[in-house]
Amino acid sequence: MATTESRITLPPLPYAREALEPYMSRETLDYHYGKHHRAYIDNVNMLIRGTPQQQATLEELVLRAEGALFDNAAQAWNHAFFWRCLSPRRQTPGRELEGVLRSFGGLETLESEFTRAALAVFGSGWAWLVKDRSGAVRVVTTANAHTPLRDGQVPVLVCDMWEHAYYVDHHNDRGAYLRSFWQLVNWDFVASNLH
Ligand code: FE2
Repeated sequence: MATTESRITLPPLPYAREALEPYMSRETLDYHYGKHHRAYIDNVNMLIRGTPQQQATLEELVLRAEGALFDNAAQAWNHAFFWRCLSPRRQTPGRELEGVLRSFGGLETLESEFTRAALAVFGSGWAWLVKDRSGAVRVVTTANAHTPLRDGQVPVLVCDMWEHAYYVDHHNDRGAYLRSFWQLVNWDFVASNLH
């Protein structure tokens, strides 16, 4: 019956799995997107099947769920957002980001502040640019699956700091992972999140 079918699906990657090479390998995408992200989706569907939440959207689950359902829903949302933050087309920030860059003191300062925070994530987590309730754009980090959506902040950019995000390509060198990340940032998508 259509009403009992799970509604959460793995969103297609916005590029081919090898498109981010040499900065992020196809092997990383095969595991990170094809296995880890898919597993979060599968877990959400398993956890909501036959429950009142089975008609909820992913965003509704992220905002309301607790425990394992929150963890898997938030991971599913965070990963979908992460893939959209990356692009195979080398970009520089456009004019619509000038105000944000100025608030940090320039792109270099933004990148170094974000990188410092990302490298300081202890264990698994995420580094973000968010727009907070005052409209200011700032760097925050979250632990495990936690997402700024739950804190009333608007996600603008994210970097996955779970070991599965970088171990295939960079082993334990998070600094090398961050340097590759900056080569891949989709600044057009970043700018679109400020509206
Ligand atoms: Fe991940």
